[in-house]
Amino acid sequence: MEIHAPIPALRHALQGRGRIAFVPTMGNLHEGHLTLMRQARQHADTVVASIFVNRLQFGPGEDFDKYPRTFEADCAKLQEAGVDVLFAPSESDLYPEPQNFFVEPPDLQHLLEGAFRPGHFRGVATVVLKLFNCVQPQAALFGKKDYQQLMLIRAMARQLALPMDIVGVDTVRAEDGLALSSRNGYLSPAERQEAPRLIRTLEHLREQLLRQGISAREALEQEAAASLDKHGWKTDYVAVRQQSDLHPPRDMDQKLVIVAAARLGHTRLIDNLEV
Ligand code: PAJ
Repeated sequence: MEIHAPIPALRHALQGRGRIAFVPTMGNLHEGHLTLMRQARQHADTVVASIFVNRLQFGPGEDFDKYPRTFEADCAKLQEAGVDVLFAPSESDLYPEPQNFFVEPPDLQHLLEGAFRPGHFRGVATVVLKLFNCVQPQAALFGKKDYQQLMLIRAMARQLALPMDIVGVDTVRAEDGLALSSRNGYLSPAERQEAPRLIRTLEHLREQLLRQGISAREALEQEAAASLDKHGWKTDYVAVRQQSDLHPPRDMDQKLVIVAAARLGHTRLIDNLEV
């Protein structure tokens, strides 16, 4: 695997490489990330990954400083997963001057995750477009674990006519159901044991929603949040939404998704479940 940092070196290395599939990450790689890498191989001749902890998408008081940086171990995993080229820019490679131009996503950026993390999706969209411009892939892969992020990137690619396919990949989970996440490493052993309650709660909600119908939606959302809180969580939201636009559904005719974010101790976990 080749590793490149400055943008010109990366561009040079990618010349004449055929179809490129790209997987952007912030590192501290786990099996979820590596699944994206392996799937990328099905879409291209050359698989490019990036590792960059993007300051722009972290709010004040969030975990930018303590976000786990495990570069050596990440490189070994990427190599093992068959990645051809790693783009690992430093902050001054990617942001040599203050980043004053932004990709301003539509209102979707202010819903759900966006309501709790103001500016987050603007930071994500900006860095992702910039990474796309560096790598110029024909396909880019994103996890459904970050459901709203995937939706926003898809919308950006459509509306800005980006010449690439955006591929969504199912969430990879631990045996007990917990969605793999770099932030799981923040959990104490007791919290790690408690953490699968999040997906269990969403599964229970889905079951009840299918049984009781859409009129029970708000009561079921509140019940789910209350049952998490009762077990020591601080729930930001549990919401049944339309897959198409993440707005509240009027009936059960559309495809639905249940999205949630909740804090366990100092760790904020998100998950979702398609209905
Ligand atoms: P990061 O959290 O490192 O995630 C990189 C990619 O891995 C994202 O597409 C994410 O959805 C996917 N992913 C994470 N956990 C997963 C799991 N358990 N199963 C499947 N896919 C999973 O998301 C980001 O980085 C950043 O916002 C980024 C897009 C790189 C922009 O900075």
